[in-house]
Amino acid sequence: MTTWFITGISRGLGKALAMAALAEGDTVVGTVRTGPFSLEHERGVLHVLNVDLADDGAAEASIAEAFARVGHIDVIVNNAGYGLLGALESATDAEVERLFAIDVFAPFRIIRAALPHLRRQASGKIINITSIAGRAPKTGSALYSAAKYALEGLSAALALEVAPLGISVTAVAPGAFRTDFLSPHSIRKSETADEAYAETIGRSSVAFDAAAGRQVGDPDRAARAIISLVRSDNPPVHLLLGSDALQRARSKLDQVVDEIDAWEATTLGTDFRQGL
Ligand SMILES: NC(=O)c1ccc[n+]([C@@H]2O[C@H](COP(=O)([O-])OP(=O)(O)OC[C@H]3O[C@@H](n4cnc5c(N)ncnc54)[C@H](OP(=O)(O)O)[C@@H]3O)[C@@H](O)[C@H]2O)c1
Repeated sequence: MTTWFITGISRGLGKALAMAALAEGDTVVGTVRTGPFSLEHERGVLHVLNVDLADDGAAEASIAEAFARVGHIDVIVNNAGYGLLGALESATDAEVERLFAIDVFAPFRIIRAALPHLRRQASGKIINITSIAGRAPKTGSALYSAAKYALEGLSAALALEVAPLGISVTAVAPGAFRTDFLSPHSIRKSETADEAYAETIGRSSVAFDAAAGRQVGDPDRAARAIISLVRSDNPPVHLLLGSDALQRARSKLDQVVDEIDAWEATTLGTDFRQGL
């Protein structure tokens, strides 16, 4: 049986994953911001920790408490997070600092606190829920994309660093999944400042609103995909979830390759000339 630590099991993907792991008979240590909280489950063991990742020291304290309760943890899932949409020039320092605190610094601190335990175990799987916005961004998500790109980069480099220690890292990038993510309860928007953005940010804001409740991704199927990744002997460093994520990632890769090709001579022209 597998023991999981999952942030943000109150709703959405985190809840679906916790439910799926419990249904397999696994043990889940899950965090929620406000308690008491429970999940209806017939199998498995659930430990709930009250954690607001915006609080100083919360990430480290939650890992210490989780290992104290269950001793050994096989999988750490950095799931809790939210999106910030709107024009970059409208975003305030406070909005961006909070976004990075939850979507980047909290996962970093959780991983940093967990690594000594995982190294002692000589095993562990770290799963960071990023986003297709962290690989192929859409208009109106500059800061959210920046946060998720940061978590993608952290994951890719960390995977190299900890592989020799028996620890794997996977960045899981979902497309649009039918959770509360786009609901007013979760998503945040910077006030749009200028008419100049009506055709770009304005339109994308309307499109994001219209997508709420109609996303193609099924959270229960995402949970099953993450469980199969955890059961795999050779988990990937990157995993896309959803047909929309696949389409966006492939089209972005094509654009990147085309651009590299178009500018190849310029790229190669910056080396010292041979023999100088
Ligand atoms: N759904 C999508 O379309 C989608 C696409 C790409 C990536 N993602 C990513 O998937 C992850 C899960 O999102 P979701 O779709 O399940 O959204 P959701 O339904 O809004 O759930 C978000 C979860 O994160 C928790 N959370 C938010 N801020 C927190 C904080 N300060 N401290 C502790 N927990 C906090 C929430 O707890 P509360 O209930 O207390 O608010 C909730 O459990 C996020 O990292 C998101 O960026 C989602």
